[in-house]
Amino acid sequence: MKTKFIQLDCNNIDNKKIIEAAEILKQGGLVAFPTETVYGLGADGLNEEASGKIYAAKGRPSDNPLILHISSMKALDALTAGDCTLGRKLAEAFWPGPLTLIFKKSNLVPLTTTGGLDTVAIRMPAHPIAFELIRQAGLYIAAPSANASGRPSPTTAKHVIEDMDGRIDMILDGGSADIGLESTIVDVSADIPIILRPGYITLEDIIGITGEAEYDKGLLQKPESEDFKPKAPGMKYKHYAPRGQLTIYEGESKAVVRAINQAAEKKLKEGYRVGIIATDETLLSYEKGLIKTIGTRKDEKTIAAGLFKILRDFDGEQADYIYSESFYDNHLGQAIMNRLLKAAGYHIEKV
Ligand code: TXA
Ligand code: MG
Repeated sequence: MKTKFIQLDCNNIDNKKIIEAAEILKQGGLVAFPTETVYGLGADGLNEEASGKIYAAKGRPSDNPLILHISSMKALDALTAGDCTLGRKLAEAFWPGPLTLIFKKSNLVPLTTTGGLDTVAIRMPAHPIAFELIRQAGLYIAAPSANASGRPSPTTAKHVIEDMDGRIDMILDGGSADIGLESTIVDVSADIPIILRPGYITLEDIIGITGEAEYDKGLLQKPESEDFKPKAPGMKYKHYAPRGQLTIYEGESKAVVRAINQAAEKKLKEGYRVGIIATDETLLSYEKGLIKTIGTRKDEKTIAAGLFKILRDFDGEQADYIYSESFYDNHLGQAIMNRLLKAAGYHIEKV
């Protein structure tokens, strides 16, 4: 298959190109598009054959459900069943935006889209290209992140090309994703909102609207532990994995730098290619290896936005070992460390 590549200006969207992309979706094809979190791989979410193509293109296990992307609140009436008061409160507060809500599903939603579950994940994205595409198509767009299963989520169209060229009909390039981490997923199908995947919208943000909320207990455990049963099926897979072995160093900043320098030196001597995930603040303190900055600790948003890109960059450089600082601080720490720990297969060195 030849993949058509189209560039769009977010500030002045060419409507003809959106219509062309929407037409592909209506005919059951696959279009990758930018969102404010990461790039998505879209198909008609009510067309089982079309969403089946998503699983094939990504190499995704069929029990891992898809998020339906919508452009109007009216979609909730069609896609959900039962009492949605709790979810609607959160939707009104944060949509369009980087929040996915899990509701009881209506009969309209096929089980192939929900991986056999009786719930459905729904998100209204804020990115103007995503929003316009969904609106023009007039469909509910099933869209996982547009990476091959197991690779870091794509934050640029170039990342999508790396994984999907020749496998899908079209890629819309709208520049770098703003946030760079996938949406926060909150299950609102019971009485208390449960966070299944941390993201830009935090536990505190959710509590601010609903008065109470919790993390899914499965989220806080290592996948190897026996009672690890995350409620978001996707959270159980080894995800975001770079090709090299990533180790995270935790501790006081100077001690971390010293330990990473020692580990890097050792592996370099053994003839391996070594990558180091530094910050603007520590960049000059590292001595040898492929040293890259993920962003600045003065603005944790830059670290979130840089994470998947730096993992892909080290793949490009064929790093055998990657050493990273940790980023527990502030607001986005939960979301950043959730992704980084998975990428590292929970390899941590405390110093
Ligand atoms: O930011 C995002 O959410 C991006 C953009 C493209 O919107 N999409 C995304 O989709 O990250 P994906 O498929 O890569 O991740 C969706 C996650 C998976 O972990 C999946 O298991 C979970 O959502 N999920 C989907 N439906 C669910 C459901 N009914 N119950 C529990 N978890 C669900
Ligand atoms: Mg994904």
